[in-house]
Amino acid sequence: MKHSDVTDERTAMEKPEEIRMVDLRGQYLRLRDDIGRGWDAVMESCRFINGPEVSELESALARFTGARHVVACGNGTDALRIALTALDLRPGDEVIVPAFAYAACAEVVCMAGLVPVPADVDAATFNLTPESAERVISPRTRVLMPVHLFGQPCDMEGIMELARRYGLKVIEDNAQSLGARCPHRDGSAPFAGTVGTIGCTSFFPTKNLGCYGDGGAMFTDDDGLARRIRMIANHGQEEKYTHRIVGCNSRLDTLQAVVLNVKLPHLPAWNEARRRAAAKYSALLGETEGITLPKAAPGADHVWHQYTLRVAGGERDRLRQWLASRGIPTMIYYPRPLHLQKAYRSRMRLGCVPEVAERLCGEVLSLPMHTELTDSQIEYIGSSINEFFAGSPHRHDSMGAAAVTVGSPT
Ligand SMILES: Cc1ncc(COP(=O)(O)O)c(C=O)c1O
Repeated sequence: MKHSDVTDERTAMEKPEEIRMVDLRGQYLRLRDDIGRGWDAVMESCRFINGPEVSELESALARFTGARHVVACGNGTDALRIALTALDLRPGDEVIVPAFAYAACAEVVCMAGLVPVPADVDAATFNLTPESAERVISPRTRVLMPVHLFGQPCDMEGIMELARRYGLKVIEDNAQSLGARCPHRDGSAPFAGTVGTIGCTSFFPTKNLGCYGDGGAMFTDDDGLARRIRMIANHGQEEKYTHRIVGCNSRLDTLQAVVLNVKLPHLPAWNEARRRAAAKYSALLGETEGITLPKAAPGADHVWHQYTLRVAGGERDRLRQWLASRGIPTMIYYPRPLHLQKAYRSRMRLGCVPEVAERLCGEVLSLPMHTELTDSQIEYIGSSINEFFAGSPHRHDSMGAAAVTVGSPT
């Protein structure tokens, strides 16, 4: 089937006004000629694995972020796993992860025979902080793994100071914040994912920079680590059939590299479109009682991978149903903290009770967020939320106080 056949068939099925949580189609329609041309070239050359488009992408990402080395790989989870493997850790060594995050960070730590140690997060930014991480450091701690959640980088300056003080490595999980900057006190503002020992990202289709399948990449300024990472991702070999270390097979397909090469130059404008959508949501919902809006921390950059409200007082699920009845999809990222997931619980060391993470899981609600949202869609979503709270009989008794205990956004 040709690309255009897919397009025609889907156009006929879709309602133009439908609100989607994520809309990949609008971007595809604008870019499909360039992507199609690139794909045709790959099909002609048959260089499906390690075609020149992959190293082109690595160089383009290095230029874009300022990282000295970029190594593409099969997906974001592999990026984290390979990064951990490259650090030569010992079984039982501890890695600090946020308790409120996507499961991949705890999963890869367990897979590597290491011990995940959950740290609590900040209610306003949803992120791990230097203070929350320091609370769970032990003599076995070797790595900090901050996750730049929902598009907002963690306080990397503080995290790197902590790492230096305790002699720790830092692996940044930057799957959700590619293109966001980390402002430093000296006026510099390096990109998230380029500050720690190794940064990792995902090109899962819904990410701010996504391909049309699985993909990921690792970023580092360390020449030795870059070489090691590249070997691990390629069966531990540099020359074919000479395996120097134990590795795995984790490669970005050439066809996916074509998509990313076409999309990367648009990333700054797409992140800006997300900022505009977030600002519009915040303007519409700023006066609404019963919800706490997400905000960028003072001076922080934010690329709004998600726009996530907090709805206290047990009203979150009712609001979600109300919005669904009005044709508005929402998602709960994440319904359960990592320390309460059966798969990881018994393998963790629990150095604190991550109370904020537990509370957030009962309160968070992510609204539709993507580059194709129209003003009228955002207005409709905003007015539907306001209508819910205007009509809620529980508005004052069950929500006001609870919303305050979560902490107000900075
Ligand atoms: C924060 C975070 N880390 C890691 C990953 C894993 O990426 P992938 O799905 O490409 O393996 C994701 C993707 O969903 C993510 O959001």
